[in-house]
Amino acid sequence: MERKVVFSGVQPSGGLTIGNYIGAIRNWVSLQDEYDCYYSIVDLHAITVPQVPKDLRKNTLEVLALYLACGLDPEKCTIFIQSHVSTHAELAWVLNTMSYMGQLSRMTQYKDKSQKLGESVNAGLFTYPVLMAADILLYQADYVPVGQDQKQHLELARDLTDRFNNRYSPTFKVPEPLIKKEEGKIMSLQDPNKKMSKSDENDNGFILILEKPDDIRRKIKRAVTDSIGEVRFSEEQPAIKNLMTIYSAFSGCSFEDIEKRYEGQGYKQFKEDLAEVVIEGLAPIQERFKEIMNNKEYLENVYKQGAEKAQYVSNKTLRKVYKKIGFVVK
Ligand code: TYM
Repeated sequence: MERKVVFSGVQPSGGLTIGNYIGAIRNWVSLQDEYDCYYSIVDLHAITVPQVPKDLRKNTLEVLALYLACGLDPEKCTIFIQSHVSTHAELAWVLNTMSYMGQLSRMTQYKDKSQKLGESVNAGLFTYPVLMAADILLYQADYVPVGQDQKQHLELARDLTDRFNNRYSPTFKVPEPLIKKEEGKIMSLQDPNKKMSKSDENDNGFILILEKPDDIRRKIKRAVTDSIGEVRFSEEQPAIKNLMTIYSAFSGCSFEDIEKRYEGQGYKQFKEDLAEVVIEGLAPIQERFKEIMNNKEYLENVYKQGAEKAQYVSNKTLRKVYKKIGFVVK
């Protein structure tokens, strides 16, 4: 029986946060044994906002090393850099011609970013979700494990799939998002109504996967809490709910366990313990990251091998698409 296919990616636009880890990468690791997984470092996406070339190059390799340090195994899954595989930009062009301006202009992420940029917003930012659809459809992905913030983009990918399949004939599989309810949305430590993001101007709002223990302690100590004063998982306490989700993700404890452990206590002990749980959870990843970054040859082998496989597999889909839309076959 054919194995189901999984596709996902992260932008190499700066250090990754524990939101990226809990909401996405951690789940990818558990999928690689069962499915045929493709995980990309999506540098074509990253240039939709200005990047310093040397930083982009460094960040791309660092994200690759982080994938490996978090437990992705190149023997089990295909890991590649998006710009190494030419089909992504090619299919994105075709899908652009089938995407509606109206739908693209309703994408929340685009609206947020374009509001800040005004007239000078670039066209790449606008068509960004179309490139994302191309990423997914090229591999005929069944599942796309992402955080909650990508849900709307996934819906667009599903719409484009239907549109293409209906206009021509069945060509693409309809991808399904895999989003964890709480873990899919890790919030800022400074504002529980805002997603934790590496682009937050307040760096107390996020914790990086590579963050130093003392900084983790400081940031968690400063994290906002709620006024109720008890460690309980409820919608009335969004800040505590968020901290409990992080605690649970790193320790494996259920929310009930955590509530019991801190019953009758305020937030102080809980926050101190949370910092240690996060530090302990990240330590082995940070250790492996250092080792892997020292082995440039290994990194190069991984991305070259990954690109070769991804190019081969995605070419098959692109050739089918070109034929169906009426391009002359070479
Ligand atoms: P990016 O690079 O912003 O984020 C990478 C992944 O991390 C998840 N994530 C979070 N999950 C929980 N809580 C948070 N605070 C949090 N912040 C980020 C994101 O949902 C994502 O899964 N467009 C995508 C990259 C992409 C992609 C794709 C993903 C390009 N092509 C194809 C899946 C399939 C992005 O910008 O993710």
